[in-house]
Amino acid sequence: MNRKSDNTNYGTVAVTIHWVSAIAIVGLLISGFSAGQVPDPQTKAAILRLHAPLGIVIAILTLARIVWWWRYDTRPAPTGGSPAWQERAARAVHLLFYVVILGMAASGIGMFILSGAGLVLFGGSQSALPDFHDYLPRIPHGIGARAMTALFVIHAGAALYHHFVKRDATLKRMWFAKPG
Ligand code: HEM
Repeated sequence: MNRKSDNTNYGTVAVTIHWVSAIAIVGLLISGFSAGQVPDPQTKAAILRLHAPLGIVIAILTLARIVWWWRYDTRPAPTGGSPAWQERAARAVHLLFYVVILGMAASGIGMFILSGAGLVLFGGSQSALPDFHDYLPRIPHGIGARAMTALFVIHAGAALYHHFVKRDATLKRMWFAKPG
C-alpha cells in the first residue's frame, strides 16, 4: 500500500492520521465532559493532566494533516453515486472538523494561560484549581465541545450508512487493506 493517496484510495499516512485523530478526539470528548462535571478537585486535576496535553497533540497532528494535504497528497475522488448535496455536506463537515479542532485547542490553551491552571497542574503551584467558567475562552470551548459531538455523530453516521446501507467503498478505503 502506498504512503500517498491515489484517485480511488487513501494512502497509509492519511489513514493513520485519520484513525489516530478519531481515537484522540473520542478521548478528548470523554475526558473533557468528565472534567467539566466531576466534583472532586483532585480527580478533575488528574483528568486535565491528560486532557490538556492530548488536546495540544491533536492540534499539532491537525496542523500536520493540513500541511500533508496541502503540500504532499491529493484526496481520492468521491466514491460516486451520492447526491450532490451529500457530497457538499461531507466537504462542509470535514472542513468544520479542522475549524472546531483548532478552535478547541486555542480556547483550551487560552483558558490555561488566563487562569494560571498550567502552573497548578504542571508547574508545582500549590494554589487551588481555578473555576474555568470565570474565563472567557470557556464559552467557545463549551460550544465547540457540543459542535464537535454533533460533527462526530453526523460523520460516523454517514460512514456507517455508506458501509451498511449503500454498501460502497467509502469506509473501506479509509482503512489499510484496500477494496479490490
Ligand atoms: C481538540 C481539542 C480539544 C477537545 C475536543 C476538547 C474537549 C473538551 C470538552 C468536551 C470539554 C467539556 C466542555 C463542557 O463540559 O462544556 C472540555 C473542557 C475543558 N478543556 Fe478541553 N478539549 C480540547 C483541547 C483542550 C486543550 C488544549 C486544553 C488546555 C490546554 C483544554 C482544557 C480544558 C479545560 C480546562 C476544560 C474545562 C473543565 C471545566 O469546565 O472545569 N482542552 N474540553
